[in-house]
Amino acid sequence: MDSLLIRGGNALAGEVRISGAKNAALPILTASLLTAEPLVLSNVPHLKDVGTMLALLGHMGVTVTPDERNHVTLCGESIPHREAPYEMVKTMRASILVLGPTLARFGEARVSLPGGCAIGSRPVDLHIKGLQAMGAEISIEHGYIHARAKRLQGAHIAMDVVTVTGTENLMMAAALAEGTTVLANAAREPEVVDLAECLIAMGARIEGAGSGVITIHGVPELHGATHRVMPDRIETGTFLVAAAMTGGRIRALDAAPETLVSVLGKLADAGAKVTQGDDWIEVESDGVLNAVDVRTAPHPAFPTDMQAQFMALNCIASGAASITETIFENRFMHVQELRRLGANIEVSGHTALVRGVPRLDGATVMATDLRASACLVLAGLVAAGETTIERIYHLDRGYERIEEKLTQLGARIQRIH
Ligand code: EPZ
Repeated sequence: MDSLLIRGGNALAGEVRISGAKNAALPILTASLLTAEPLVLSNVPHLKDVGTMLALLGHMGVTVTPDERNHVTLCGESIPHREAPYEMVKTMRASILVLGPTLARFGEARVSLPGGCAIGSRPVDLHIKGLQAMGAEISIEHGYIHARAKRLQGAHIAMDVVTVTGTENLMMAAALAEGTTVLANAAREPEVVDLAECLIAMGARIEGAGSGVITIHGVPELHGATHRVMPDRIETGTFLVAAAMTGGRIRALDAAPETLVSVLGKLADAGAKVTQGDDWIEVESDGVLNAVDVRTAPHPAFPTDMQAQFMALNCIASGAASITETIFENRFMHVQELRRLGANIEVSGHTALVRGVPRLDGATVMATDLRASACLVLAGLVAAGETTIERIYHLDRGYERIEEKLTQLGARIQRIH
């Protein structure tokens, strides 16, 4: 298993090009199941999870033609295998996103229940409940979701909990349903909006994406389209936190500032200087930061995927701050690892109290999930001496060439095979 070796202490400076958003690309790739015509995508990030999704779609029958590094054309003309097997789903929960499109277009789908994962049980009950409301007959047998529906019918669906992929699954299913579907308490994440824009380009009739109520008027079929995946706001936020923590100056290019308002506000509260243009954001800092309280919640509130990164920032900021995680029940695994680097953190329930320390000291730590890995990279960049991060396959799921991009910014980081 690969690990990363980081020698901390350098201030990072320069420009970094942001890749396409993992959490927009994954649902948009599954939209290829909704039409027999080609879906031409650009700015698709080169990530492990994207590779896994392409393999799953290929297994089902989608023809996948990578044009060049970040372009791919998918064609779902013939889909003989309307199932997502456990072997594939267990490595990536987002595989559940093939359920809605497959059921809507073919009237049947068989998708393995995703297992739990490190950060929580992550049920998919609301995906299932929504499809049942649209007339699907769904049974769970031997760990698989079996779904059948002659033709899905539009329905009014009140989501008990805000769920990003739940909203995406139901929006895709509703696009081909008979009649109108209203999703109330829908997720407002920018990635949901990006998927909606792609579906609209394919001929779907969707209103309200980005608000808490999304209305979808079903159409008999969808056609091919061309779509550029939005920039990854979490990759962007991660690099900007790196600038603040190392006392440097980083400009993120090909970014989307309007998708990061809450994160940029917190960086400014921490004392960093934040400037932005239409498609770039720059953060400059002298490395002297104030600790900032953070409470995660659905968009447009502070994103849970940036929680670990701000915990790393608070570890070396002056003062104490609380970090409250309201989305997932177990997203504090990075706390133990940060303590190995000398951090002062106390956890009680869903809240971590972080007291800034003058410095962190390098050590060997272990990545446990994607964003925890990013947090450990950030901590390693400021820790004195050497930090080795093990099990960085987690990192490769969500960050394209992170050590290359960090090296270009002046970090001393190398991958050890
Ligand atoms: C998406 O996961 C993202 N993944 C996650 O990013 C992100 O952390 C999460 O949304 C929250 O923003 C993708 O988009 C591929 P949820 P998702 O359904 O959709 C509960 C990363 O690091 N819930 O919005 O799986 C659930 O338990 C990943 O890139 C139900 O109870 O998350 C959780 O507490 C990690 N029943 C809450 O809702 C359901 O049917 C939010 O989960 C569905 C969800």
